[in-house]
Amino acid sequence: MTFQNILLEQPEPGIYLLTLNRPQALNALNALTLAELAQAIARVMADESARVLLVTGSGEKAFVAGADISEMQNLTANEARAFSEKGMRVMHALEALRVPVIALVNGYALGGGCELALACDWILAADNAVFGQPEVNLGIPPGFGGTQRLARQVGRAMALELIITARQVKADEALRIGLANHVYPAAELRDQGLEMARTIAAKGPVAVSLAKQAVHCGQHLDLASACELETNVFARTFSTEDQKEGMRAFLEKRAGKFKGR
Ligand code: CAA
Repeated sequence: MTFQNILLEQPEPGIYLLTLNRPQALNALNALTLAELAQAIARVMADESARVLLVTGSGEKAFVAGADISEMQNLTANEARAFSEKGMRVMHALEALRVPVIALVNGYALGGGCELALACDWILAADNAVFGQPEVNLGIPPGFGGTQRLARQVGRAMALELIITARQVKADEALRIGLANHVYPAAELRDQGLEMARTIAAKGPVAVSLAKQAVHCGQHLDLASACELETNVFARTFSTEDQKEGMRAFLEKRAGKFKGR
């Protein structure tokens, strides 16, 4: 499957690298890119050997500079609704992916770009990263989940400030407010991402997947129900070969060899 606006590679077994690849428009998300993203996510989902997905932007300037403004300019309200729903579906699909998804933010992550990074499980930022929700400058609010995921990530007051003033934050502040997990020199970002992906790929895949699911689903539940969910996924792993192997390996003082079942 070849794409026009994205690249989907497998640099190492189990590790997928998805690159938004429209550098002439700073990787802005147009309808075609969103459709290709949905296809790429489906492809990763269908691969049982997939362990991690890294998401980044091509070029040195931008991760993604937002939804495509030239394509949005003349949308009717109904068309804007359909465009937003299309973007939302992609963000939900990333979040729901069985494997962890890590954003490698290499430059601008604005509007839909910030929303795409937020839909990933966590963010590794280059030291030239700039995050923001500048939509109000265009006379619109965020439309791919920014009002919700940014508030959940950095808290309501900070999210409101960033969305309503359109103030952009650089990598060091993104780290401080909990938007990015780590900041690396731009030239090291990809290698750092791959290193983290290798670490994840060596863990028990069922445990990783269920842990991701428990954190995401639990956020929408009261504490007692969320803890019950954790008990359920914890118990479920005890019917896997990987749990037997992981514990046997610990007791035999060696690294576990996991099969994902
Ligand atoms: N949509 C379409 N094209 C875009 C774009 C976008 N979001 N962002 C950048 N581009 C294009 C520019 O139009 C320009 O194209 P041309 O060379 O054909 O003129 C090219 O990318 C390079 O951009 P600049 O010349 O502007 O580069 P710069 O270095 O001077 O500025 C920038 C970089 C600060 C990121 C600036 O491009 C910018 O502000 N971009 C728009 C950011 C934005 O408002 N994003 C939110 C979009 S709305 C949204 O995302 C809604 C939603 O939530 C769903």
